[in-house]
Amino acid sequence: MVTIKPFGKLADGTEVDLIAIQNSSGSTLEVTNYGACVTSIKLKMADGSIRDVVLGYDTPAEYEADKDTYFGATIGRIANRINACDDTGKPGFILNGKTYYLADTSGNGASLHGGVIGFDQKVFDYTTGDDYVEFKYTSPDGEENYPGNLTLTVRMTFGGDNALKIEYDAVSDKDTICNPTNHCYFNLAGHDSGINLKHKVCIDSDQINELLQNIVTGKISDVAGTAYDFNEPHEIGERIEDSHYQLVDSKGYDCNYILKPNPTKEIRQVAWAESPTGDVRLNVLTDAEGIQLYTGNFLDGRKGKGGAIYNFRNAVCLETQILPNAINMPHFPTSSVIKAGEHFNSTTIYAFDVK
Ligand code: GLA
Repeated sequence: MVTIKPFGKLADGTEVDLIAIQNSSGSTLEVTNYGACVTSIKLKMADGSIRDVVLGYDTPAEYEADKDTYFGATIGRIANRINACDDTGKPGFILNGKTYYLADTSGNGASLHGGVIGFDQKVFDYTTGDDYVEFKYTSPDGEENYPGNLTLTVRMTFGGDNALKIEYDAVSDKDTICNPTNHCYFNLAGHDSGINLKHKVCIDSDQINELLQNIVTGKISDVAGTAYDFNEPHEIGERIEDSHYQLVDSKGYDCNYILKPNPTKEIRQVAWAESPTGDVRLNVLTDAEGIQLYTGNFLDGRKGKGGAIYNFRNAVCLETQILPNAINMPHFPTSSVIKAGEHFNSTTIYAFDVK
């Protein structure tokens, strides 16, 4: 059952909505058309209580004011960081012989999550069905200096099985690049429960992208024998203070795992996370080839829903995507280029198992 109510106003007076999908299990997904953003996932627990497992805010103004967490938002055109494509050191890419420079949003030569005003800050049109909402945003040719009028459609379905299915479709009138993701911050013990480090995580991957100061170098590292190996489940906190330079640089986990080859683009389970007591498990299924594990290392005590305080490492993000900076890394398996008129499609499912 879908219900729609006003969420509030943005700074320019635009009204945005809060759309709730209640499923037959008594759980509710709430999303807003500001940033095609998941504002809550309220799970009905075995004892009848309700547990909201994603971080967020109570008003659109708070989402608008926050320029760096991307809580729950749809990220576009390009998730993650794009670095320099030439010796200017400016982030950008070369497509069909033309160079496109992008905003340096990180201050160290990288453009993060779509630029200064990414899709997380756009108002999407939407339609709804019994158990879904379908968002649509057309990014004009040249927005954030990306070529082509690009239309991104994001359908979020929340069925009785407590699975949030996110389907992306993108099409452009010129060749361009696109790599959308969703940036939910999960805390399976409850968004306001604080410490996250006792969550167990498992990721079906043997390799990560090597980083230097959070920027993909293009080298691939094996996780075997390192604190990045989550092939067997580990608590997030177990090895987070390890001396691996990437963990030190990123102040925790913030890196992209290369998932097992998937030539037929099957939607397969690639990761799971479990609350400290094991009463909520999140299974992540996707056809994407990469997944970013980010442990909220930039969270700094900001005030969220209902006055909850979100502190350092109070959440875990599992962001599915094409490998970061793929446009500048021709040896990566999948390119983020979409040709004019061709559709990019990808599906990710966040399936919750409540015990
Ligand atoms: C991503 C990045 C992080 C951080 C967050 C947003 O997950 O990898 O470094 O920028 O987004 O705060």
